Amino acid sequence: MKLSEKIRYAGVDDHREKNFENQWPLPKGISYNAYLVIDKKIALIDTADAAFADEFLRNIQAELGDRRIDYLIVNHMEPDHSALLSLISREYPEVTIVTNAKAVPMIEGYHGITDRIRVIREGESLPLGETSLQFFMVPMVHWPETMVTWCPEEKTLFSGDAFGCFGALNGNITDSKSTIFEEYKDEMIRYYANIVGKYGTPVQNALKKLGGLDIHRICSTHGPIWERQIADVVSLYDKMSRYEPLEHGVCIAFGSMYGNTEKAALELAEQLREREIPYTLRNLTAESYSFALRDVFRFDTLVVGSPTYNNEIFPPVRQFLEGIRDRQIKNRRFAAFGSFTWAGGSVKQMTQMAVDAGFEILREGLSFKQGYMPGKCDFDALADLCR
Ligand SMILES: Cc1cc2nc3c(=O)[nH]c(=O)nc-3n(C[C@H](O)[C@H](O)[C@H](O)COP(=O)(O)O)c2cc1C
Ligand SMILES: [Fe+2]
Ligand SMILES: [Fe+2]
Repeated sequence: MKLSEKIRYAGVDDHREKNFENQWPLPKGISYNAYLVIDKKIALIDTADAAFADEFLRNIQAELGDRRIDYLIVNHMEPDHSALLSLISREYPEVTIVTNAKAVPMIEGYHGITDRIRVIREGESLPLGETSLQFFMVPMVHWPETMVTWCPEEKTLFSGDAFGCFGALNGNITDSKSTIFEEYKDEMIRYYANIVGKYGTPVQNALKKLGGLDIHRICSTHGPIWERQIADVVSLYDKMSRYEPLEHGVCIAFGSMYGNTEKAALELAEQLREREIPYTLRNLTAESYSFALRDVFRFDTLVVGSPTYNNEIFPPVRQFLEGIRDRQIKNRRFAAFGSFTWAGGSVKQMTQMAVDAGFEILREGLSFKQGYMPGKCDFDALADLCR
């Protein structure tokens, strides 16, 4: 697939994997993108997931025919992009792996490869003919060895996972259709929230480092190639990595064993609906917390419901709140609610986690004994506070 005279797409769509990293649901699939720069010398930038060996090789052969690959650029060692490094080294034995010093021991550790590796330094340039490749380290976006590759002649940034998103391409290789950003936006927020969300500061550092480049094409390792909607994508990543809410609205996330906390969650949702305050309702026992984490990155307000369970927060809710804590999410408004039967505790503990995160506490938590009765808790007042 031709992106320009010199740049080709060689990636694959994955509709089979149910969960990325064995934990994040993929209702719309995912793509593993790789690219060829074809000049006097030929560079392959990244590979694909282990399950796609045959298809990936066929894609490369379709572009190259009998020509050989001179350089395999390794931007990132997570196996969704590096699993086929051994395969490429076997099929193209004359290839030189081009990467940075931090990736070298990982290449040995995963693949046992120690020779034909060229270690490049920050900013170094690799001539290919009329084009060249330049390398910039973006540590902890989202592994320590991560770098991006810049082709100045093509004004193209091979950005690795940065600016990536869930969702297979289904032919949407580029954003030539004007609605592509809107179509993929939710899955971009969810990818960021789930995978990269902990690394706001490294992402900000990367954005600063790359800010001076005149980028006309972003080729990331997941999702469409951005040519027309670059400003939207960069602005979204910028906001998310500063932990700025993207929209006004409420994420109601709850867990419930016997339906009492759930009833309260539904009551709050109803109150928000009446006030025309945007909200989502996330049942943490019915779906992965992946989706609730996305909504936390999206909205300015988070309201969490959990029953008390062995003096603690109900485990599925605890996992979600730990996910928020691990990502060091800031700048949110917060309230908690939940049912208990004897001593309670979950609402207090959830509120404490929010205080520790520096969230603004909208009001004291709404803790209720046993069944939820309309009017028993002041969701009216809470909904007003969510405006
Ligand atoms: C395994 C288990 C442990 C519980 N531990 C506590 C507890 O430590 N303190 C408390 O007040 N209630 C405890 N409860 C009672 C629940 O909090 C109570 O049933 C609540 O109404 C459940 O809310 P739900 O209907 O939203 O699941 C426990 C219930 C179960 C099933
Ligand atoms: Fe990755
Ligand atoms: Fe990836």
